[in-house]
Amino acid sequence: MNTSYLVTIMQTPDRHRLEVLRNARLEVDGTGRIASIEVADSDACADVILPPTTVLIPGLVDTHIHAPQWPQLGTGLDLPLETWLFEHTFPLEARLTQPEFASEVWPDMVATLLAHGTTTAVYYATTSVETTTMLASACVDAGQRALVGRVAMDHPDGTPSWYRDEHAAAGIAASAQSIEEIAALESPLVEPIITPRFTPACTDELLAGLGELAGEMGVRVQTHCSESDWEHGYAFDRFGESDTAALDGFGLVRDHSVMAHGDHLGDEDMAVLAARGAGVAHCPLSNAYFANAVFPARRALDAGVRVGLGTDIAGGAQPGLLSQCSDAVTMSRLLEDGVDGGRASEDRGVSNSRISITDAFWMATLGGADLLGLDVGLLEVGRHFDAVAVDTARLGSALRVWPGVDDDARAFEKIIRLATPPDIAHVWVGGRRVAGWAESEDR
Ligand code: GUN
Ligand code: FE
Repeated sequence: MNTSYLVTIMQTPDRHRLEVLRNARLEVDGTGRIASIEVADSDACADVILPPTTVLIPGLVDTHIHAPQWPQLGTGLDLPLETWLFEHTFPLEARLTQPEFASEVWPDMVATLLAHGTTTAVYYATTSVETTTMLASACVDAGQRALVGRVAMDHPDGTPSWYRDEHAAAGIAASAQSIEEIAALESPLVEPIITPRFTPACTDELLAGLGELAGEMGVRVQTHCSESDWEHGYAFDRFGESDTAALDGFGLVRDHSVMAHGDHLGDEDMAVLAARGAGVAHCPLSNAYFANAVFPARRALDAGVRVGLGTDIAGGAQPGLLSQCSDAVTMSRLLEDGVDGGRASEDRGVSNSRISITDAFWMATLGGADLLGLDVGLLEVGRHFDAVAVDTARLGSALRVWPGVDDDARAFEKIIRLATPPDIAHVWVGGRRVAGWAESEDR
């Protein structure tokens, strides 16, 4: 059965363009896909009629989340990446291999992310097949679209003895089993993703085995790539080439592969990613703490690299993707202008680096969808109805659109910079209402 909606839509069909559709009548079919969108006359009816002060945007696509870091969100960001991993992160992740703890954490995290408008999430789970499958189930139960990866890591130098795959063959077998268990859930929402943590945590044998597995099973890949000075330099020391070139040699840079961070990618690395159809999960807030550099988002986009946005929970200290949009814009301004006022302005920054708010929102929606190869990120016929309804007139909210003051472009900018969960009235994934404070019986 179809459901119809009467709404105002704001979205970015390309990264330079804000599209506003007022009084749009949108019809969703029984499979949760958009069957039609047309601009209606003023007396049109629909099953769901949103107030004119509510704006429908495409659901947000968070391309990089570490699920077992959820309990440490907001903390522990004062150490360099390699120390933070060993002192804070691996001990917590190891605890999330316990089903009992995972059964508390996963539903709490998924519900919170949905309330922030994250309709698609790309997760690193744990090394445990069991708690990884539990995460996939938690997404299915809550109605979140997700790619869920069992974390593969076996390198004796890059991992602690108490949180690693026993050896490469065990890591490859566990990753294959995880793929099968997630596929066996038979949910249209959830898919597996092959997840070698990053090169310092993986032996050559594991990386090569997972590259082969990706080819054989036709499953996407995610990993970290040239995130920090340390990780970038590590690859040259170990492989004699860049992280991207090494990962490519192992067959891990593929169509829709998600490389997290990529702050130190060179032009050649970007060319490899573009040629393979791979791309970057740009995590601007996390990068400020761990990456030692700002990711050159505009240079990557201009080079034809796919780019989505990511929170990098808990390397980034905020749960929602809208705040990453503003952070992406802010960081791009710092990159362009430079940061040391003691230098002459002309040699302080990297010119032509700034991105706009439409670029950022595009990355958070259609850019992420394109990176992953999922039919989401835009409200258009044939795509899944994954959408977020934002109230722009809530008393007490910083997000207020003032009639006669704010035009569409400013209203859009306000939504991105100021909307928080109390402003999010409804969240739909695949046509099912899954979050939002408003009564669901408003039809
Ligand atoms: N590199 C390898 N593992 C991690 C992680 O958990 N977070 C971040 N930011 N970088 C990583
Ligand atoms: Fe990460």
